[in-house]
Amino acid sequence: MVQAYLDVGIQSRMNRIITPKDNRVVMLAVDHPYFQGPTTGLRNMSRTIQTLLPYCDCLMTTRGAVRSNIAPGDLGSKPIMLRVTGGNSVLFEELSDEKLTVTIREAIRMDAAGVAVSVYIGSAYQQQTIVNLTDMINHAEEYGIPVLAVTAVGKNMARDLRYLALASRICQDAGARIIKTYYCEEFSKLVDWVAPTAVVVAGGKYSSPPDALQMAYHSVQAGAAGVDFGRNIFQDENPLGMIKAIYAIVHEDHTVKEALDIYHACLPHASKLD
Ligand code: R5P
Repeated sequence: MVQAYLDVGIQSRMNRIITPKDNRVVMLAVDHPYFQGPTTGLRNMSRTIQTLLPYCDCLMTTRGAVRSNIAPGDLGSKPIMLRVTGGNSVLFEELSDEKLTVTIREAIRMDAAGVAVSVYIGSAYQQQTIVNLTDMINHAEEYGIPVLAVTAVGKNMARDLRYLALASRICQDAGARIIKTYYCEEFSKLVDWVAPTAVVVAGGKYSSPPDALQMAYHSVQAGAAGVDFGRNIFQDENPLGMIKAIYAIVHEDHTVKEALDIYHACLPHASKLD
């Protein structure tokens, strides 16, 4: 496999995000309120973070969520993937009109291990969001901070290999160090076409434990570095069971059946998050 050249700062932060011993990562996405407001499972954000943080490798979140919900020292050595784009809400049809919302100095001040930028390929504000990505990469790389590109999918876009690979490859060419995209059929082709850039898979809307675990399993088997799941973990009736099961798939190569056994073992003590 081709090795990406990484300078020391980038390498050190990438090693905080993606576990070097297996090149895998369980990222927990709790950034949804930046455009959805009080999202189910994140209304009491501090409880959700406290409950799930020990079982993820990295927390994808926002500046305000950190400021309002995480006391100094609570994160320990757990790295933050800081969302640095926004500017819209679910009340407005066109979600692609995003801009950069957090400066690189603020990300450094918060000790972010990486910063996340959404791009909306094929949408009305495609160019603006790609330029958000390249601008942030220009700033962040100067300080050795890796940028994760999120291939946000507009309402009219198909979540298929053709679209997701197009969007992902554009992110790689822009200089993203990690690409977050959706799972699709023939996913291993997408991973190959953006190699050696690491790919993490977004969960999407809440589905069911077997479906979400299957997606995690197929993603890593196809070569993804891991997952960046949100709703399929914190909106499940058994959030601890879900994140432990996902961890077992990503880091311990468990099968879906073995992961479901872990999920079910946690079920009697499960407590839903608000
Ligand atoms: C969406 O724009 C956010 O970046 C979420 O973090 C992302 O969609 C992953 O969360 P979920 O697994 O809930 O889709």
